[in-house]
Amino acid sequence: MKFSISSKLNKASIKNVEAFFLPVWVEKERYQYDDAVSVLDAADQKLVKNFLKEREPKAGEVHLIRLNKKPGFVFLSVEKEFNGKKLTLLARKYIRTAKKQGFKEVGIYIDDLADDDLAKTEIAGLFVRNSLLAHYDFSEEFKAAPKDGWKRVQNLTIFSDHDEKELRATVKENEIIAEGVNRCRTLSNYPPVKMTPEGLAEAARDVANECRPAKGGASSIKVTVFDEKKLYSEGMNAILAVGGGSDNPPRLVIMEYKGGQDGDQPLAIVGKGITFDSGGLNIKPGEYMSDMHMDMSGGSATIYAVAAIAKLKLPINVIGFIPAAENMPSGKSYRQNDIITAYGGKTMEIGNTDAEGRVVMADAIEYAKTKKPALLMTIATLTGAAMVALGTRWSGLFVKDNKDLRAALESIGETSGDAVWPLPLTEQNEKEVEGIFADVTNTHKSNSRYGGASSAAGFLSQFAGDQTFAHLDMAPRMTTNPEEEALSRGAAGFGVAYFVELAKHWETIRSTL
Ligand code: BES
Ligand code: ZN
Ligand code: ZN
Repeated sequence: MKFSISSKLNKASIKNVEAFFLPVWVEKERYQYDDAVSVLDAADQKLVKNFLKEREPKAGEVHLIRLNKKPGFVFLSVEKEFNGKKLTLLARKYIRTAKKQGFKEVGIYIDDLADDDLAKTEIAGLFVRNSLLAHYDFSEEFKAAPKDGWKRVQNLTIFSDHDEKELRATVKENEIIAEGVNRCRTLSNYPPVKMTPEGLAEAARDVANECRPAKGGASSIKVTVFDEKKLYSEGMNAILAVGGGSDNPPRLVIMEYKGGQDGDQPLAIVGKGITFDSGGLNIKPGEYMSDMHMDMSGGSATIYAVAAIAKLKLPINVIGFIPAAENMPSGKSYRQNDIITAYGGKTMEIGNTDAEGRVVMADAIEYAKTKKPALLMTIATLTGAAMVALGTRWSGLFVKDNKDLRAALESIGETSGDAVWPLPLTEQNEKEVEGIFADVTNTHKSNSRYGGASSAAGFLSQFAGDQTFAHLDMAPRMTTNPEEEALSRGAAGFGVAYFVELAKHWETIRSTL
């Protein structure tokens, strides 16, 4: 899907558009049209006015109306006020409807939607990003295509008198972010038979290859992959333990981008990369195992976040770490009551092989610390408990004792569209995972099932130690809520937009550390 910008909105420029977005404001049952209505044929304008008069649609209603002349259809949306949240959803519904109807060329006039709170560039960006997110459908990847191919919206024309250069920059930025999110969704959705730990490494190499300068030369992202031999020689026994039960050997994938100064302390992101979570020897019952091919969603978010930050050339140093393993039962599996020495020497006892995410992340956190990051963040589909606590609209945010950092990270959730909600992480949670025979245990020490998301965070925090640290439990946002969000089924791609937004506000974040 492509985007054009047109400074003139008239009968000639709208000629190729097949469906036009037409906002209508309603207040005290009086309708106020967008100026764009004037480009419609006189008889069609009347048709729209009569529709409003006869049907009296209420705020929130959306209708696709057939016209007699070009553009042919209007996507009529009635609201009291068109704010960012409403427009996000409307943009998605518009594109999904257009795609379903087989429209190829669609258009929107944005100038009347703008006000003091919402700039024209923001509206353009929002339409670009959400059009791409709503157009995406993983079911087109493996299903046989229909005879005349999948329906595709080919172009969205944005009509605006705003400075074209600025609009182009916004379009480009949002294309990069949305493409990152959609590719993250694809990688997460991919079946685990094809997407193994080495598959994650390949995805990282592929996207880094795209970050080479046009004239050739080194990519702005350096990818290093530790294979099982290197993991062994480095003493990364936790990743090896979880990966031990699988025929697909584990990896640690590292992606480094240096957009900042040489000495600038990096942002480190550790993303859980479990390519399939069967539970291991503590095997999951069938209904709990479904969707566990997406248990590497934190890892894929890390890959495409680092890539998007590099493609946007943001002035920050970032390192992504993806401990990747498949958690499977076999004669080589790690067991309950095993004691494992993680990278750096801390020991852990295994209370449950299904709490594997925190185990692989322990090695990666310890290793990330050697790069002296200003902030270390973890992102993981870590616990079902986070979903019980929060539902499926927010990821859990865990920050131990820095209120300013917590507030700043919450606000990144608001502005990025990847919403987060704070949950407790205290010294008590770190105590909950103290081991009996080892330094820590990967389950609650008295087997309490309450507050599981916080105990898991406490475990990660034990490994972070004195390192400035924040954790996102993205299990609640692993998959979309298709109806509510107007997105197709499957992985939500949570985290890519979050970390891009964080990188854009790195100075503000740093001031809280
Ligand atoms: N990957 C799961 C958590 C999960 C569940 C993510 C559902 C997304 C949707 C994780 O590895 C897990 O199995 N956690 C256990 C921990 C328990 C054994 C302490 C859980 O949440 O039940
Ligand atoms: Zn598990
Ligand atoms: Zn898991």
